[in-house]
Amino acid sequence: MKVFRPRLAVMVSGNGSNLQAILDACEHGLLRADVVGVVSSKEGVPAIARAERSKVSVVVVAPVPNETRAAYDLRLLEVVKGFSPDIVVLAGFMRILSNNFLQQFPSQVVNLHPALPGELPGTHSIERAFAESRDNWRTHSGITVHLVPNEGVDTGPVLASEVVPIHAHDTLESFTERMHEREHILLVQTLNDLCQNFVAGQEIDSVS
Ligand code: GRF
Repeated sequence: MKVFRPRLAVMVSGNGSNLQAILDACEHGLLRADVVGVVSSKEGVPAIARAERSKVSVVVVAPVPNETRAAYDLRLLEVVKGFSPDIVVLAGFMRILSNNFLQQFPSQVVNLHPALPGELPGTHSIERAFAESRDNWRTHSGITVHLVPNEGVDTGPVLASEVVPIHAHDTLESFTERMHEREHILLVQTLNDLCQNFVAGQEIDSVS
């Protein structure tokens, strides 16, 4: 029997360490899925080289001057749809997707947020959590993997989350490193759960 493997499109804007974790997990059988395409909103970022090393198609969709968000998202939609993904993973994708885009992938877009649910939305969440810990009122932050149903920033049904401690002796670097280590693990585990549910749904469909 042919085993169905969900198709993942991964959207990035920068370093791509989470993309790397996904690629490695697929290669080593820890994530039973295939990365069929990577879309970067920026030229020349390390994430692109990571995809190329794994022989995954990469398309750069960089915004052009004076382009509206609607026009940009239309171009993005064409590219992402072209990969026919089952799941779209936002792994450090630094743009807010419009409802027009998201409606095309209902319950299929997954975001990784470097904070606990409902906390520190937007950019620099790790730095802000660390600054708050030095002001003596935060002892931990966390990470969240959630669905993206609409334009809300870092909100949506939570698939998984985990507390990450901030120790008194931490530097921003050591805390950031701990956050990324935990992100890589939680993201892969959560995607694997999602993919297994997806495969189970396909099997039910194929016999009904
Ligand atoms: C991660 O911290 C993720 O939570 C946030 O952007 C960062 C991307 O890191 N959304 P990388 O590009 O995967 O290394």
